[in-house]
Amino acid sequence: MTSTEPSKAHQFPSGSDAFPHRHLLGIAGLQPWEILYLLKEAEQWVDLNRKSIKHAGRMDGLTVINAFFENSTRTLLSFEIAGKRMGADVVNMHAAQSSIKKGETLIDTAVTLNAMKADAIVIRHGSSGAVQLIADKVDCPVLNAGDGRHEHPTQALLDALTIQRRKGDISGLTVTICGDVMHSRVARSNIYCLTTLGAKVRVCGPPSLLPAALDRMNVADFTNFDEALDGADVVMMLRLQNERMNGDFIPSPREYHHLYGLTKKRLSLANDDALVMHPGPMNRGVEIDSNVADDIDRSAVTEQVEMGVAVRMACLDILTRRSREVEGWT
Ligand code: CP
Repeated sequence: MTSTEPSKAHQFPSGSDAFPHRHLLGIAGLQPWEILYLLKEAEQWVDLNRKSIKHAGRMDGLTVINAFFENSTRTLLSFEIAGKRMGADVVNMHAAQSSIKKGETLIDTAVTLNAMKADAIVIRHGSSGAVQLIADKVDCPVLNAGDGRHEHPTQALLDALTIQRRKGDISGLTVTICGDVMHSRVARSNIYCLTTLGAKVRVCGPPSLLPAALDRMNVADFTNFDEALDGADVVMMLRLQNERMNGDFIPSPREYHHLYGLTKKRLSLANDDALVMHPGPMNRGVEIDSNVADDIDRSAVTEQVEMGVAVRMACLDILTRRSREVEGWT
């Protein structure tokens, strides 16, 4: 079933059956109603996070380990805040200070974390598939906080929540994703998420940064940004992921900005109320101009960060629900 009709999509099974997955490794393969259930659950945490006291005790006594093998500001901090607001004990493992630096393998590291009886492990890793490898070795739910170019599922969920809150039903919206699609796990997860929810997704970038696999992803591809913007309801900008590039993919940042940078003038080609999004970190003056990124009427960049905490609270809660139920907790 691919329909997202409200009558079907909003009938959620109860308890842990509403999201019958042990891990959150990607968006690919999720059903529309499973995504909508995660978004619905996140809504309550948006409300809580706007109060002065932000504590929900659902995960009291549980332990969450954030194991980050790549740098992060938003994802690491929001998972930490999310776990703490849910009442869990949260421990962060930074690869640079870990025994990985002494030659310990990823699998030995996973087995070590597992032996400490974590109730959920959140992992960011530079290699596509590394998170799946760890999930296969541990007894608790694993949440993918970004693996190589593969997926960044909680980013796509927080983006979907942001769009849904601003625009209503995602089905039927035209979303233009522009930038370094080739190296972007954010683009991949968003394509899966938005197409599953019925959006019309356009991807745009220089030919050197558009992957051949787009043919199989139910999207329209563009190399002319002006054409890709025509009629867009949402414009999602991506940074150039220089850390994943081997060689030159663009002539120069200046040339890139000329063709693919989101300027005020270029944004006027999209719908009048088009929402501007960026997962961060932004490279101002390259893929997006400051007067667009900071335009409070059009840009949802800080709202995306806010939604990130709520979405991660929902994901941690839902994935650890089964273990709480087994132990007789509510
Ligand atoms: N959007 C995102 O994943 O940002 P960080 O790299 O700062 O976590």
